[in-house]
Amino acid sequence: MTLISLKNLDVTIGKKQILKNIDLEVEKGSVTVFIGPSGSGKTTLLRTINLLQKPSQGILRISNTEVDTSKLSKNAIREIRQYSTMIFQSFNLFKNFTVLENVYRPLILNGKYSKSEAKEIALQALKDVGLEKFASQYPATLSGGQQQRVAIARAVAFHPEVILFDEPTSSLDPEMVESVLQVIVNLAKKNITMILVTHEMEFARKIADKAVFIENGEILTQGDAKILLSNEGSHDRVCSFVNSLYRGTPESAEL
Ligand SMILES: Nc1ncnc2c1ncn2[C@@H]1O[C@H](COP(=O)(O)OP(=O)(O)OP(=O)(O)O)[C@@H](O)[C@H]1O
Ligand SMILES: [Mg+2]
Repeated sequence: MTLISLKNLDVTIGKKQILKNIDLEVEKGSVTVFIGPSGSGKTTLLRTINLLQKPSQGILRISNTEVDTSKLSKNAIREIRQYSTMIFQSFNLFKNFTVLENVYRPLILNGKYSKSEAKEIALQALKDVGLEKFASQYPATLSGGQQQRVAIARAVAFHPEVILFDEPTSSLDPEMVESVLQVIVNLAKKNITMILVTHEMEFARKIADKAVFIENGEILTQGDAKILLSNEGSHDRVCSFVNSLYRGTPESAEL
């Protein structure tokens, strides 16, 4: 079943066209990875899916909500946003809240849960990422990898239809990366719909159903991740990009 559909979507910021003619479908319960060079538009595309970035035109549908992005009402934006949560490179935890507070407090804001219900859900989410022992600590006392797992627990606690990850491991020390990737692999096993921007190719091959290659604001190609990201690859441009990551001179590196 298609959960997310983007049709003929454009994003213009100022006078610059950032995304052009984006057509994309995401199946419910699947994992999609966005790959491509730095500045190609991966983050912007991810942000359009919860309308953090408003497109200039195009149709966006998530589940039963379809919006024409050229005329967005506040209600439409609110409705689209309820479907997804986003995980950023930089964790974005509240430093004056404990780990548990970081996960449960956002849950009681919309009035859906009582404090005790929210705490129970938060504790379970922390258990799922292996951090229940850290519940009463403050984020600054945790490693980067642990902080990112708290951010993931916070997102999962909302039970969103889709979780959007923007390079969730790229600001971590190498030894921290694996624990975060493992948490994401566990989520994939639970068939949670996820879209990830990542440069971790082995991980992407292992976890992703679909890969989308973005270049110059356009989807150059998309398809089965196992085929598109395989060593022999089915697309020359994707192959040369993936190989550049292995050579350690990624085209994705910040210039
Ligand atoms: N708020 C903004 N104002 C102006 N230009 C922007 C803005 N946000 C993004 N851009 C431009 O849009 C293009 C795509 O940016 P985006 O951040 O989506 O790329 P990316 O593929 O995520 O890159 P990276 O791999 O470096 O994270 C870039 O040229 C960027 O400079
Ligand atoms: Mg980016």
